[in-house]
Amino acid sequence: MKPGRLRAARGLLFVYDRAVNESADIVIAPAAAADVAAIKKMLTDASLPTAGVDDHWKTFLVARDGPTIIGCGGAEAYQTAALIRSIAVDPAYQRHGLGRRLVRQLLDRLSSRGVREFYLLTTTAEDYFSKRGFKTIDRDEIHPQLMASRELQDACPESAIAMRLVMLT
Ligand SMILES: CC(C)(COP(=O)(O)OP(=O)(O)OC[C@H]1O[C@@H](n2cnc3c(N)ncnc32)[C@H](O)[C@@H]1OP(=O)(O)O)[C@@H](O)C(=O)NCCC(=O)NCCS
Repeated sequence: MKPGRLRAARGLLFVYDRAVNESADIVIAPAAAADVAAIKKMLTDASLPTAGVDDHWKTFLVARDGPTIIGCGGAEAYQTAALIRSIAVDPAYQRHGLGRRLVRQLLDRLSSRGVREFYLLTTTAEDYFSKRGFKTIDRDEIHPQLMASRELQDACPESAIAMRLVMLT
């Protein structure tokens, strides 16, 4: 094959490989202690708070493409209420449903532990979460179980909007 054609064929193969990788090789799984530094970097890059991650990383899920963490989502879970936090997807992987998968799997795991009320604070993604069933509430409607949360207490700005999803039993 002529060099130009060979280069074009390789280029097509690369695009094909990426598309296959994006759909097939992305795995969502519970975070390990060794993932905490990468989670914090991902949050910092997304301008999200890292306070409290060291205490709650065991509830975090990470999405990996091969060895690379490309998304994360976590929760601060109390008895029946949880603060959903730190939902972030690497910009190169956004708008392919990964955020939706992370939120869905987090809610499923928490609800299997008896959590029924899910709260979150956001300055940027109110519309995103309202499409996922969350309703905007006043801050004083946040469940008292969550008052221990550092994200709630001091990491998230006062201007952040509080949202809630109540799961039907
Ligand atoms: C919010 C975020 C996690 C979504 O991840 P994602 O993998 O792109 O989300 P999905 O592919 O599941 O959903 C994409 C849909 O959400 C919409 N969407 C993405 N971010 C949005 C936002 N901030 N506000 C409103 N809608 C948003 C897209 O337009 C798209 O809608 P469509 O399906 O109607 O086209 C990602 O944009 C991100 O990491 N943002 C920065 C961090 C952040 O703000 N996190 C939330 C704070 S708790």
